[in-house]
Amino acid sequence: MISTQRVSVFIVAIFLCFILLFQILQNDGPSINDIKNISYRPFRPSIHDSILALFDSIRHPITENYTDVSGTRFLLEQPPIWTKPLKKKVLIVDIDTREPSGDNQILNSAKMDWEKLDVSGGELVSNGIMNHYLYAQIHGYDYKFFQAQHIKGHHDTWILPHVLYDLLPDYQFVVTMDADVTITHLEVPLEWLFNRWGLTKHTSISMPWDQEEILGGETVSIDSKGLQVLNTGVVAVQNLEYTFEMLEAWKDCTTEKRYSGCGRWKEEWSHEQRAFSEYIRYDFNPAGDNIVEIPCDDAMGWPGMMHEYEGQIMSDCNGTFFRHHTLRKDKTKESASSAVMQVLSEILQHELLEHKDKVWVKEAERIEVDEAPSHVENVDLSG
Ligand SMILES: *[C@@H]1O[C@H](CO)[C@@H](O)[C@H](O)[C@H]1NC(C)=O
Ligand SMILES: *[C@@H]1O[C@H](CO)[C@@H](O)[C@H](O)[C@H]1NC(C)=O
Ligand SMILES: *[C@@H]1O[C@H](CO)[C@@H](O)[C@H](O)[C@H]1NC(C)=O
Repeated sequence: MISTQRVSVFIVAIFLCFILLFQILQNDGPSINDIKNISYRPFRPSIHDSILALFDSIRHPITENYTDVSGTRFLLEQPPIWTKPLKKKVLIVDIDTREPSGDNQILNSAKMDWEKLDVSGGELVSNGIMNHYLYAQIHGYDYKFFQAQHIKGHHDTWILPHVLYDLLPDYQFVVTMDADVTITHLEVPLEWLFNRWGLTKHTSISMPWDQEEILGGETVSIDSKGLQVLNTGVVAVQNLEYTFEMLEAWKDCTTEKRYSGCGRWKEEWSHEQRAFSEYIRYDFNPAGDNIVEIPCDDAMGWPGMMHEYEGQIMSDCNGTFFRHHTLRKDKTKESASSAVMQVLSEILQHELLEHKDKVWVKEAERIEVDEAPSHVENVDLSG
């Protein structure tokens, strides 16, 4: 009898040992590296997966009309061409010669102080990177910060066509934005915007119409033929053979092999932007949709800019989808925080309302006592 009991206990003990061993093997808990470096806490699930999951509830569907928080409706007028998420086929890239690794900058390992972030130089670049990187994470696009080298004898903005030419082979789309551009509605995917703007399977490049700007009594936002220029603050390029021809002509414009007179724009404002509008757009749009212009209001300016710069900025472009802070760069910080707080507000509001039975405690109505308690009645107040 006793020995049978012992055997059962023994079997149970062996069994428990197996379960324990199995769990230890299953558990991808602290590895040797983690133990050596105990202060490093890996995120599980990864930040990447967490952000995708967090924003899943509010990510706007690619083929549905969009209504912003003010109630303004944005309709997809044409049947949508882009119907599936492009994910890693899209690269969002920040291209800059400035290295944002100084004090209070994103690529410095010291913790950033958002409140003290000054929005100029590497700090402006940092602010842009955070907004663009978050957007890429929300929609599952690839992201890169491309630190470019200066091009001898050229203004730094000439890096744009060169870098696009170099990065495009690895993607279907490469989208780049200036550091002073903030994505306004983080939940709206690029594929939806491509549908809105009418990018087709043979669109090589897309960028916004510039605002009309008057300086010294003259409009400075037109080319020599009098046509409004396009602004390179937001540029999307698609991987097509024709796009490489176009980018080659653009990046080599100042050599004057193809375009005599282009050398003027090496250092003179507005550099590569003007060269594109002056030459490239007239030569590389045979089908009319090789180059797609984005409405100025979608990707230029910020709310109320025309009013603040009355007499200088003549187009009412509020940066509805991309705010471009060509003037008042300090406003990029406010735009970036609003963009994040808007999506977080929506998520938190929804979450609180969903669980309101648990989180919203309503105190029962107090029963007012008409008569004071008797012991108070008896107190002699006459002193
Ligand atoms: C811990 O590991 C991380 C990532 O490998 C490293 O950057 C960091 O310097 C390490 N910290 C310490 C205290 O060793
Ligand atoms: C978007 O709105 C237009 C105009 O009201 C409508 O014709 C279209 O069906 C809508 N699209 C979707 C996907 O609801
Ligand atoms: C831009 O915003 C202003 C208010 O800041 C508004 O009056 C105007 O109608 C908006 N413009 C467009 C094109 O929506």
